[in-house]
Formats: sequence, structure tokens, C-alpha cells
Amino acid sequence: MKNTVVTFAQAKEKNEKLSMLTAYDYSTAKLIDEAGINAILVGDSLGMVCLGYENTLSVTMEDMIHHTAAVSRGCENALIVGDMPFMSYQTSVYDAVVNAGRLIKEGHAHAVKIEGGKDFAPHIKAIVEASIPVMGHIGLTPQSINAFGGFKVQGKSLEVAQKLIDDAVSLQEAGAFAVVMECVPAKLAEVITNKLSIPTIGIGAGAGCDGQVLVYQDMVAMYSGFTPKFVKKYANVGEIMKEAFKNYKDEVSKGVFPAKENGFSIDDDVIEKLY
Ligand code: KIV
Repeated sequence: MKNTVVTFAQAKEKNEKLSMLTAYDYSTAKLIDEAGINAILVGDSLGMVCLGYENTLSVTMEDMIHHTAAVSRGCENALIVGDMPFMSYQTSVYDAVVNAGRLIKEGHAHAVKIEGGKDFAPHIKAIVEASIPVMGHIGLTPQSINAFGGFKVQGKSLEVAQKLIDDAVSLQEAGAFAVVMECVPAKLAEVITNKLSIPTIGIGAGAGCDGQVLVYQDMVAMYSGFTPKFVKKYANVGEIMKEAFKNYKDEVSKGVFPAKENGFSIDDDVIEKLY
């Protein structure tokens, strides 16, 4: 069944959990879609897990459009959310609407995601008024790592916890259809989830959220960089791939691959007439 923003609203009403994974390419998106995951986030984590940057700050609109379009070609049923990269919306409400529009028109996303709280409510409102669904993102927002001083859990103090609640409510009032909460203490995430009428999607925010999202390379152990504590590894695909690459190298060097069945034949008399 096709997932839309209506599916998200209904899931909250019926207390049904939503599943979301990141993807950045056609083949992986197709596998995730076929597994029945509700939504695919083409996250700007692309910069780290696909492009090898140390953080997400260098990711461009062109990167996001290119990868969102590839993901969209692999999907039939998942809701595709394209991430707005650093400086594609912070600069002005106008830029936010124009760039959100590009992710829909050129990337074929169904919705966009924006990091940040109350300060970005005007941007979200304007994008929603242009008929583009927006997913908010609060807590540890990786585009702000320089301001946070690193990848840190957010909301442990009363002041920051209260700010996160206010931010979540502002995003809902601005028209967001869902809110991602990243690295937020589980009990606080539950309080926020109970306050909102739109679904919350947690990543490192406990089981009380209305849904969960993970970076797919983390959950199948394909990313060799830092793996956060909140990730559960569902498969060791990285090891399986490395083993396959080693076996291939070994067989190529020994002349075992390609075997006869991996090639194409030609009649001997054609070969004989060549000289
Ligand atoms: O870019 C991303 O993958 C994200 C998730 C971690 C929520 O924003």
C-alpha cells in the first residue's frame, strides 16, 4: 500500500508504529521499499556514509537532488522524504521554498525534512503553504554540530528539555506532518510524543516515539566510521561484502574466475578463419 502523509496521520491516530530508513541509491531504495518500510529518508547523512565527508555540512542541493531522484526510481510504496542540506533554507524563507520545490520537482520526493526548532517555523509554514509536506527535526541536529560543540545528547537539562517541547509544538503549529527527534532522552521524547497530534519519529529517542528511523548503513554494519550507541545491527553486511571482495580477488589472481560458464562461446570455424 502506498504510504503518504495521510498514512502518517492515521498511524498516530491508531497508535501504529511507523518505520523509516535512510537510502541514497536506486538498488537499496528498492530493497527497503520491497521490505514494506513506510518511509525512506534521503538524509544529508549521505555526506558521511556515501560521500566520505566527516560531517553533513558540505552536502549540496545538487547532491540531494541527484540521490533523491535515484531513490525515487526504486520506490513504489514508500513515502520519500528529501533532506534539506545545510544553507539551503537557513538563508531565507524564500530560499527554503525554492529549494524544497527543487527536491519535489527534480528529486521527486514527496516531502522534505528541515533541521531546527521554533526559529524555522516561518520557513516550514511557507513551504507547507506551497503544498509541500514538511518533516521537522529537533534534538541533535547534525547541521548545528559546530554550535553544539559535537554530536551530543540534547535535552538533559530543564532549560533545553523545555525548549525542545516548545520547538516541537512550534513545528506542529507551523504545519509539519511529523517530527524527527534525534538523541533525546527517552522519557522526554515520550512527553513530547504525547503532547503532539503529529507523529514523532525517533532516532536515539527511545521506544515511546510514534516511529523509528535509522541510517541503513549503520543497521546493516556497512559504515566503518563511528556507530552511535542507539544503533542496533540487524546484519553484518559489511563483513559479508568484504569477504566476497576478497574471494573475488583471490579467484581472479588464481585464474579461477571467470570460468567457462561466465563467458560467451563462438564457433571454432569462425576463430580458425580469422588468420
Ligand atoms: O540525515 C539523516 O540521515 C538524518 C537522520 C539521522 C534522521 O537526518
